[in-house]
Amino acid sequence: MEVIIRPDEGAVAEAALDVIGRLLASKRGPVMGLATGRTPLKLYAAMRASGLDFSAARFFNLDELVGLGPEHPDSFRRFLRANLLDGLGAAEGAARFLDGAAPDLEREAAEYEAAIRAAGGIDLQILGLGRNGHIGFNEPGSSLGSRTRPKALDKETLADYGPDTPRFSVTMGIGTILEARALLMLATGEGKAEAVRRVAEGPLSSETPGSALQLHPRVYLIVDEAAASRLARAEYWRWVWENKWRVGQ
Ligand code: GLP
Repeated sequence: MEVIIRPDEGAVAEAALDVIGRLLASKRGPVMGLATGRTPLKLYAAMRASGLDFSAARFFNLDELVGLGPEHPDSFRRFLRANLLDGLGAAEGAARFLDGAAPDLEREAAEYEAAIRAAGGIDLQILGLGRNGHIGFNEPGSSLGSRTRPKALDKETLADYGPDTPRFSVTMGIGTILEARALLMLATGEGKAEAVRRVAEGPLSSETPGSALQLHPRVYLIVDEAAASRLARAEYWRWVWENKWRVGQ
């Protein structure tokens, strides 16, 4: 895991855009996994403004709330269209979304897994982090080997979303996420500091689903100073950021 600590949200987005720029330089039509939420908004705006060529890229969304069809204003599909895909220069049909209103969610989940495989797998999965350590909607206690499936939201997540939120979601599993070739997790603000500490420095445990990232060989965890405030090894990571150009010198 490479922990990248930047001063603020803007600098987090810049560092994340740099990872994406390098991905596009190495592969013309990469497959990207997209997270919803407040955290990646600055990155998504930066991607749209970047002038990078996303015309051959393909996209899968990470999760969706059950009961919200493609046109529902609160659907994650609408969110990703409005905040990223419209205006990104992506090709028509380049994005595949989980359908929260599918009549058979187990089947929807199985077909989604098959679609990811058919696309050759995900090259870069963008992730946020729940205050309780969840990734996607893999709440504490989720199997570290889980696949895309329906999943109930836990109390803390429901509280974050507000009273009218559906109680169920359909989400890529932790096992699905770990199969992406690289993971890019963003976390900002003091409210995420404890979850970030558990992801980067805590024990590997299904109680902190994000700690599964410790199993993955290529993880960028990009955080601002507030979200890094509980890291015991923050100084080490700051030093690495300043000095990594020296590798091989
Ligand atoms: C939500 C989503 C996650 C998201 C996380 C953090 O519940 N299921 O995909 O990354 O919580 O959200 P935010 O970025 O708004 O803090």
